[in-house]
Amino acid sequence: MLKRVKPWIAFCCLALAWQWAAACPLSAGQAPPPEAQALWQHITQPPGFYKWGTWSALRESRRSRCATAYGYFARVYANDVALKAKGAPLPPGSIVVREGQGMGTNTYAPNGQIRAYTVMYKVRGFNPKGGDWFWASYSGTGQVRDSGALTECIKCHQTAWQNDYLLGLELK
Ligand code: HEC
Repeated sequence: MLKRVKPWIAFCCLALAWQWAAACPLSAGQAPPPEAQALWQHITQPPGFYKWGTWSALRESRRSRCATAYGYFARVYANDVALKAKGAPLPPGSIVVREGQGMGTNTYAPNGQIRAYTVMYKVRGFNPKGGDWFWASYSGTGQVRDSGALTECIKCHQTAWQNDYLLGLELK
């Protein structure tokens, strides 16, 4: 009796393991959950966001209109989902990364120092009244500082709610 059952158990375990692996959200570059650490892993996993493109209006690293604790000068990277979109709002899966450098008004990245990374990640249903953006901030070395539907980020960015909360360029 046992001998006949065992192969079936083995088969079921294998089938379950296979299904679990296939359903695992972090496998094979799938969209990460709205969680800061998972998001960081996703955007830094090779080739990483440094290889992403950006909107033509943002090609140059430039001085921010708004001095924040996130660096006075900004470079912005956007993933393909965001870049391929036409106009606002951007589709779920869009990720926009802002690399902020320098704290003085005239100094671009003293010693090349990166002050912070701030990231917007669009997750369907995450926060419908806030454009479904998941907000996250990291140190210049990628340590998580804060994340979620952050009032702090939204209070500035909501002035551009008609532009899907993006302040640096007009989505067309
Ligand atoms: C004091 C106002 C202010 C606060 C607070 C703020 N931002 Fe911004 N943010 C801006 C401005 C202005 C821009 C566009 C110009 C630039 O890049 O500096 C911007 C740009 C961005 C961009 C690039 C896309 C875009 O909108 O142009 C991202 C991503 C971003 N911010 C994320 C965040 C996150 C995440 C937080 C909270 C942790 C945050 N911001 C807090 C003012 C703010």
